[in-house]
Amino acid sequence: MHKIAVLGGDGTGPEVVAEGLKVLKVASEKTGFSYEVTPYDWGGDRYLRTGEVLPENACEEMSKYDAIYLGAIGHPDVKPGILEKGILLALRFGLDQYINLRPVKLYPGVETPLKDKGPADIDYVVVRENTEGLYAGAGGVLKKGTLDEVAVQESINTRKGVERCIRFAFEYCRKRDRRKTLTLCGKTNVLTFAFDLWERTFYEVAKDYPDIKTDYAHVDATTMWMVKNPEWFDVIVTDNMFGDIITDLGAMTQGGMGIAAGGNINPNGVSMFEPIGGSAPKYTGMNVINPLAAIGALQMMLETLGEAKAADLVDKAVAHVTGSKLKSMSAGKMGYSTTEVGDLVAEYVANA
Ligand code: IPM
Ligand code: MN
Repeated sequence: MHKIAVLGGDGTGPEVVAEGLKVLKVASEKTGFSYEVTPYDWGGDRYLRTGEVLPENACEEMSKYDAIYLGAIGHPDVKPGILEKGILLALRFGLDQYINLRPVKLYPGVETPLKDKGPADIDYVVVRENTEGLYAGAGGVLKKGTLDEVAVQESINTRKGVERCIRFAFEYCRKRDRRKTLTLCGKTNVLTFAFDLWERTFYEVAKDYPDIKTDYAHVDATTMWMVKNPEWFDVIVTDNMFGDIITDLGAMTQGGMGIAAGGNINPNGVSMFEPIGGSAPKYTGMNVINPLAAIGALQMMLETLGEAKAADLVDKAVAHVTGSKLKSMSAGKMGYSTTEVGDLVAEYVANA
């Protein structure tokens, strides 16, 4: 029995998560596993009502589950940063979800802005470090608001944090079993402390994986290759900030935020799966947002829960729906409503 915590969150989060849960139900019936979902109301509305971003025991509470399914965090009436840091980053850090796994995969029928590229060319995975770097919150400010203001924000890179991330990436690359190539994305020519640590660790760990080819690209060059030759990539490993930036670019090349999913992974604990787009307040309650990113996140969750057959079915269902049904991945332009897209995926899974 898989115990799943459901954090619908803000804006369109609850709507897209509902479609994912619709698909989960059908997949469980089809492949024969049982699960139980428990909803939580954490998000902007609760914060505005109670003044509390997360209950004190939130991480302890979440540790009871086998997985967390998250919709979106971000509310138009709450100052940017409060909910993102107070909920999303607090859970990632508190649950030690040290990997942010972000597949960049172009499904059939989905339009990409990359000229002459198709699904065979855009299919790689970014392994983003998820608990350190510039996100660690190290630094401070002096003489704030004056002309002498000083702001320092430091990137924290620990040997342990870097090594466990790199090791995960090698393991993942081996299991993925495609081009067996792991690319380190860094900036060794300028960030000569942080990425020296990354580079040394990368090549040391590589000795344990003689079957995996290693490659290196500076982050600026990485963005160039992601546009020019995405087919060169298999798995990319990088730090938190670079991973944040390049995965938005990756998402655009795979058809936009309507389809991009990710997982915050703690290989020894509880992981959290989310569509990587935001809460899209202007589309809230209109039944127009694309639920495929959330359904993709569900697919990743099924994989992590060990339900390979169900995960595979959902993946095929998404490919079927993008390939033969949806006109566009954008909200309001799909040719179907949010709930209809969920129905299409569920129907395919049921009849597979
Ligand atoms: C993401 C988001 C978050 C991040 C924000 C909302 C804190 O952009 O999941 O990529 O920067 O990690
Ligand atoms: Mn981001």
